Amino acid sequence: MLTFPKNFLWGTATSAFQVEGAVHEDGRGESIWDRFAHTPGKILNGDNADVACDHYHRYADDVRLMKDLGYNAYRFSIAWPRIFPEGRGQVNEKGLDFYSRLVDALLENHIAPNATLYHWDLPIALDWESRDTAEAFAAYADVVTRRLGDRIKTWATFNEPFCSSLVGYGFGGFAPGKTDPYLGLKTAHHQLLAHGLAMPIIHANAQNAEAGIVINLAPAEPLTASQADYEAYRFFDGLFNRWFLEPIFGRRYPADMLESYVKLGRLPSSEPDFIQSGDFQTIAAPLDFIGLNYYERSVLQAIPGKEMQLGEFSPWKASQNPRTDLDWEVYPDGLFTMLLDVYHHYRPSKIYITENGAAYTDASSADGRINDQRRIDYLNGHLRAAHRAIQLGVPLAGYYVWSLMDNFEWTNGYAKTFGLVDINYATQKRTPRASAYWYGEAARRNGLEER
Ligand code: FCB
Repeated sequence: MLTFPKNFLWGTATSAFQVEGAVHEDGRGESIWDRFAHTPGKILNGDNADVACDHYHRYADDVRLMKDLGYNAYRFSIAWPRIFPEGRGQVNEKGLDFYSRLVDALLENHIAPNATLYHWDLPIALDWESRDTAEAFAAYADVVTRRLGDRIKTWATFNEPFCSSLVGYGFGGFAPGKTDPYLGLKTAHHQLLAHGLAMPIIHANAQNAEAGIVINLAPAEPLTASQADYEAYRFFDGLFNRWFLEPIFGRRYPADMLESYVKLGRLPSSEPDFIQSGDFQTIAAPLDFIGLNYYERSVLQAIPGKEMQLGEFSPWKASQNPRTDLDWEVYPDGLFTMLLDVYHHYRPSKIYITENGAAYTDASSADGRINDQRRIDYLNGHLRAAHRAIQLGVPLAGYYVWSLMDNFEWTNGYAKTFGLVDINYATQKRTPRASAYWYGEAARRNGLEER
């Protein structure tokens, strides 16, 4: 047996917008993702998240299912527009009540709640271009942690700020769909600032809780030793990984990236006006943990003439390794490398893998069980990589599969399925796949079988 540390968390993850539905219920306000999803052409097959998994009404059944399957932790997010329909000002108690019921259900079933305050569903009245939104976030964090801080022991401020700033405002791929690289960097700064402002508030309101942030990393490497590929690698790593890691851990933005952005005309100077004095101290609020989302590595090959363009990097696609339905390379060693690198460079006191998982279409077996052997292999490989890192001394305290169930996969709508549990959207019937039982066995044993 490959045994994991005592009290290791075997969780699953979802986010509010992707599973809840009930978008018009109990006073919830509109979010930028509602607006984006209803904009023609943005989402595959014209899907939207109005109903999604109907988790808002079915949360109690979903919690029982997690319990029956054997999982001991659950990572979910809180929808800001349910708490403040206008983004700030009037609190909507019914929104808080929903999360209070969800948390009680989890605790009754001995499942540890891990809550993320921002998983991209910004109230439509707000915009990350404005610095004030960081203050509004801190006020929202205050209200939520006052109400739920006694029962939720793990809090994350943001999920993947790279996606909600650079992808949303810089490349246009996600809500609100803007394509201005300068705004991508400015909104990233405001989100990091919001994170830093919220940290002491969470600590004050939830005294026995741990607080941190969730970022997405892609361990990167150049395809060849050529200068051009190395530059593409450096740029990608700076844009995707270091731009967030460095300030979070107290080291400001990487100097080489500031220089590159200025050279490319993406920033007016290496001291852009959106950075104010004291910001880096705020952003560097001490973390109790860092949450890392890992899906794949990036091997960088320069595009001639565009080696360093923001958004024009070219992850190499020709590896022989298997790929998931999103064309993401299956590469468990990248998880190992990422854990070692982050620990080596920043020495966080605790790490969680807050997301890891795979989109696959099912190969149904004759007996009616949903056979997703590829997902089992994926999870098995990545958990083994995590175990190797733990054995070398990395303080990894938990792992959350993305996702508990199929859900609204952003611009891919319902077409790409990440769930341990299958959702039939016509009936809302939940059917655990083979991987759901496999993962439950691992959780119960707190370990993996020797190969
Ligand atoms: C991550 C997101 C999560 C999910 C997975 C597949 O980037 O945090 O919501 O969509 O990708």
